[in-house]
Amino acid sequence: MLNPYEDAARKAAEKFRRTAVPAAEKGILPYKSEDGAWIPSPFDGNSWWTGGFWPGLMWQLYAAAADPFFLEEARRAEALLTAEFRSFRYLNHDVGFMYLLSCGADWKLTGDEQARWDTLHAASLLLGRLNPAGFIRAWNGENQLGYAIIDCMMNLSLLFWATRETGDPRFAHAARIHADTTLREFLRPDGSVSHIVEFDPENGKRIRELPGQGYALGTSWSRGQAWGLYGFTLAWLNTEDPRYLEAARRIADYFIAHIRPDGLTDCDFLQPKAPERLDNIAGAVAACGLLELSKATGDDRFRMAALRLVDGLLTHCCDWTDRHLGLLTHCTASYHDDGAGRHTNITYGDYFLVEALAKINGTDPMLWR
Ligand code: GLY
Repeated sequence: MLNPYEDAARKAAEKFRRTAVPAAEKGILPYKSEDGAWIPSPFDGNSWWTGGFWPGLMWQLYAAAADPFFLEEARRAEALLTAEFRSFRYLNHDVGFMYLLSCGADWKLTGDEQARWDTLHAASLLLGRLNPAGFIRAWNGENQLGYAIIDCMMNLSLLFWATRETGDPRFAHAARIHADTTLREFLRPDGSVSHIVEFDPENGKRIRELPGQGYALGTSWSRGQAWGLYGFTLAWLNTEDPRYLEAARRIADYFIAHIRPDGLTDCDFLQPKAPERLDNIAGAVAACGLLELSKATGDDRFRMAALRLVDGLLTHCCDWTDRHLGLLTHCTASYHDDGAGRHTNITYGDYFLVEALAKINGTDPMLWR
């Protein structure tokens, strides 16, 4: 008999085997699902930062059962993403999210040579965003020359990968420069992290923290906490620098102290009590980070917390019907609605839930390094 996590993984594979068909027929990269349909990203076409999660989800499902259907769908999506190299215009630091989970996964799981070159291409784009004054520039706006964001900790794995792959240390140097700045300037004394910090692009001095996708300036956007938790854990896995592991531990303790009794995750840990505002993506990302952190530290508390999060999602917020073509409900892009989705199904929530299940079930191909 299957345990609940194996059963959930089986049902997820069955569901996406059905619901990936309309995505392929429409020729789109799913961003979210509503009213029985897939909806593409709201901004920047296929260059929107979330484009890698759909192929990543397909690669996770392929890794678990070797069904060629998932490989074909992952490759269809990968072609849409590599076409974005040509326009370049909207690509930003999130090329890590986009290309590690698409061509990076392809190279890892199939050994496809062009996929390796495409992943190196993406790593070179990310390296090109390093401001040697001390940080990787997040976004492209004219007024955002000095912006760096916590999410970037997840993108650094692309750089560490490129150094391992080529023997060229420039990529890893850049990743360490950014990780050290994040450690110094984003991690707060209580173990929470800031979302956006602006630096002087001329000399790298910290100018100010800015409000981001959380409730307000100085609050704790839960997905940002999850990016920090998982991102510093990955930085440790890539470097074995104990400072990064300690940072991951501190953010994890902070996150765990804020898990709701039902195992779900508020959008911001310092948001007002009403209205209720959940972001289950944060819980799914944090579960993945906690499972890796538990392995890295041997501390079972982190694994237990991850299981509480996954149990909460499986009990309360999975739609196994085809009302949503995706799986995880109550995903929220930003506390203040930015048009990218609130309390709905969003594909990167599905990706991280399936990754967490794969980690628990022992099928995770570890696409982040
Ligand atoms: N910018 C990445 C996120 O919304 O989590």
